[in-house]
Amino acid sequence: MCNVAADKNVECESENTMGKFEELSRKTAAEGAVLLFNKNHVLPLKQDEKISIFGRNQIEYYRSGTGSGGAVKVSYSTNLYDGLKNSGVVLVNDKLTDIYKEYIKEHPFDNGGGGWAAEPWFQKDLPLTKELVNEAALFSDKAIYCIGRTAGEDKDNLLEEGSFLLTKTEEQNLLLITNAFKETVVLLNTNNFIDMSFIDDLKDAGKVSAIIYAWAGGMEGGNAIADVLTGKVSPSGKLPDTIAEYKDYPSQNHGGEDFNIYEEDIYVGYRYFETFAPKKVKYEFGFGLSYTEFAISTGEAVVSENEIRIPVCVTNVGSYSGKEVVELYVSAPQGKLGKPAKELVTFAKTNELKPLEKQELTLCVKKDSLASYDDSGVTGFPYSYVLEAGKYDFYVGNSVRNTVLVEGFDLKETVCVKKLSQALAPRVAFNRLKPGKINDNNVYEKALEATPLNEVDLEKRILENIPEEIPYTGKKGIFLKDVKENRNTMDEFVAQLSDEDLSIIVRGEGMGHPDVTPGTASAFGSVSDNLKDLGIPLACAADGPSGVRMENGKTAVQLPIGTLLAATWNVPLVEELYTYEGKEIASNDVDTLLGPGMNIHRNPLNGRNFEYYSEDPLLTGLMGAAASTGIRNGGAFATVKHFAVNSQEKRRSFVNAILSERALREIYLKGFEIAVASGSVCSLMTSYNPVNGFYAASNYDLTTTILRNEWGYEGIVMTDWWAKMNDVVSGGEGVIQKTRDMVRAQNDLYMVVNNYGAEINNNQDDTLTSLKEGRLTRSELQRSAKNILGFVMNTKSFERVGLKKTVIPQALGVSLMEGRKVSAVIENINGSTYIDVEMEKDCYIEAKEDVVVTFIARMMSPDSNMVQNTAQIVVDNEPLMNIQTQGTQGAFINQKLIRVELKKGIHSIRPEVIKPHLIIERVELKVNK
Ligand code: BGC
Repeated sequence: MCNVAADKNVECESENTMGKFEELSRKTAAEGAVLLFNKNHVLPLKQDEKISIFGRNQIEYYRSGTGSGGAVKVSYSTNLYDGLKNSGVVLVNDKLTDIYKEYIKEHPFDNGGGGWAAEPWFQKDLPLTKELVNEAALFSDKAIYCIGRTAGEDKDNLLEEGSFLLTKTEEQNLLLITNAFKETVVLLNTNNFIDMSFIDDLKDAGKVSAIIYAWAGGMEGGNAIADVLTGKVSPSGKLPDTIAEYKDYPSQNHGGEDFNIYEEDIYVGYRYFETFAPKKVKYEFGFGLSYTEFAISTGEAVVSENEIRIPVCVTNVGSYSGKEVVELYVSAPQGKLGKPAKELVTFAKTNELKPLEKQELTLCVKKDSLASYDDSGVTGFPYSYVLEAGKYDFYVGNSVRNTVLVEGFDLKETVCVKKLSQALAPRVAFNRLKPGKINDNNVYEKALEATPLNEVDLEKRILENIPEEIPYTGKKGIFLKDVKENRNTMDEFVAQLSDEDLSIIVRGEGMGHPDVTPGTASAFGSVSDNLKDLGIPLACAADGPSGVRMENGKTAVQLPIGTLLAATWNVPLVEELYTYEGKEIASNDVDTLLGPGMNIHRNPLNGRNFEYYSEDPLLTGLMGAAASTGIRNGGAFATVKHFAVNSQEKRRSFVNAILSERALREIYLKGFEIAVASGSVCSLMTSYNPVNGFYAASNYDLTTTILRNEWGYEGIVMTDWWAKMNDVVSGGEGVIQKTRDMVRAQNDLYMVVNNYGAEINNNQDDTLTSLKEGRLTRSELQRSAKNILGFVMNTKSFERVGLKKTVIPQALGVSLMEGRKVSAVIENINGSTYIDVEMEKDCYIEAKEDVVVTFIARMMSPDSNMVQNTAQIVVDNEPLMNIQTQGTQGAFINQKLIRVELKKGIHSIRPEVIKPHLIIERVELKVNK
């Protein structure tokens, strides 16, 4: 249930728990490192062993990706070089690293100009010479080559050098290093997977001795990977995705301009490779080495009516301490639907086991969770989850490949475990993949079948489910507090809201709203005076997911990326980490973190995979649930995103995901379903893209039929920032004004309109006009209002109502330098004074007496309206106002900022660039007495 999340001691604890938070972040980052290869135990590095580190990323070590999912300001960060130096274990070749430091001075970090999605995915590395490498090889026998890649939203990876592929320089460097050194460790400080071909060729030629995916481990990433390299922590990460050559992934049509057809259907990642192309796998799903060895023994499965229990014993039979992951896969009968050769059904991670120590675990699976969705009726149970007749075998192991068979059960006849109705099925005909004949090597041939198409009369479904209207009463003196304290019902409260109030409450404002924690993504709830008067709080949402993003200079802890978290396969650890995250969110007066990201890794080129967990929905779901539960435990809320099927960043607000209802339910929605079922999710963000023709922000079957009616979700649904909607019944072109369709689909909240723009409908959305024209009912708006109010009422923003006095910053004045002119004079009388300004230049005004003015900036950005821009206004050399807004496509707009008291005297005003492109050309100072 979505009621109060609260750790009562947040405030007093937050200060001194932060050390523990960082410690836990380091522990998690170390646990997510995946060791793929370790010839002759080249790792761990030994006490006093000498080591030469190559690659600029040893210093410019990536802690996360770019964009909203990575933009956390940190108080410090760690890198590979310092981590190893400070470990006290190894002797690092400082002379070599000094060369890199010099190189970085001469070739500083290229942020692509600092604009939105502008940072290149790699930094040009120092081209090595034979002499330099040979000299380093005189210092040590072992080398580490650190290769880095960032990634981020609004831009996919490309099959190009410096993106998915190594650069020529990196290849040359690797050749030189591996020729000169006895042993080379390749360390991948990458946000997403990269192409492994070149590295693997060297490995196969005996030249590369170890490969480790360190990912981007947050601000403690450098220390964490040093812990792993030096053996303080034995690696226990396992791959959350299959690694193969790019050409062998089934989703080859990734990257479409307007649509992608998901022909591979449910056969994503290992579901595809293990069924159709096992030989194409380089490193299998669930795989990862340790410094030690484990023996996994299994007992007989205990099969009861509803579940299967498999006892497992894990013994550490090697000579290091370490943890092991035990993975359980099912092999279900092919039946009529067709099934992947193996599917992950549960997993468990052991405690840290000392050599010879053992741990007994029981893997338990509910039979119903093994069911498949019949989207055609071929089993006799249309639109239902069914267990088809036949043998269900189980495989226990430490990867999808390295398993032993445990006999399960034989089902005599097909049973329906859950009857549903068709929802969100495609409207475009296409064939989908299905296993055909099985050959002698247990590999299935590829067959195709027609994908079942939509048969639902969506309009009828919507109209039949219109809720009953709560008769309008006008203001009755009921405050939201009365609902919270059970003196009145929510219906009685909502009855007081006029049509206009209702149309306003479904608008969120942002970014960088002056009335909530500065530099955050949005304020929502009481976005008008009338709503405020009813005691509705103003809630605050901040990005997410890798820490609290506050573009106001305030720091926060930055956590490892989602893919690393998934690679830990340690659900309790992720929950614990996010409990601290929850405390940090709450202690910053933020109510919900915009994360975790829970989309499926369909294709390795999706620029945003790093924020997401895995190609597998179970791993994704359990990780998302853990993060969300943790945040709740810490006293705040998570907003799981991006619902759904956001598999591509290129043209992310155009590209239609066309896929079967089965693939949706079993793969792309399943993770969200698991998180929602945990009971911890009360806020959810829809994605930018259309799914089967309907934008996610106006997709009735997605956010009403499935999310709420089937899964019983009771929380709030918000759009992504400046998302588009299309017609909820007929689809068509997407525009940002169609809030009528958004509300109809029960996507409650539009994110975002300009600050203070909700009351005046600055986005010119069509809610109120649709209501007047009868194309939307008041009851639908009331339904969304109830969702929003139910959410904000349970956040801590409710405790802040009335408490937060607006503090008006004072500008004390400056002295006018010679030759500088005062552009305008202000007196304490109603009216506006306009000042033309230039970016990065001071202009001067004179206050004839003390006066309180509201700043309004007239500004423009040539960027598209999906781009986040940031600037600030500096008054008397103090950065007083942070402006975050979308690109305006060249049009000038006015944005209301904050109120400032100008003391009598001269004041300087200077607009400053934070992220390039936003231009402020005029400032209005409005006196409102
Ligand atoms: C991203 C969201 C993010 C929002 C606010 C969008 O560009 O897709 O994930 O939460 O911006 O920063």
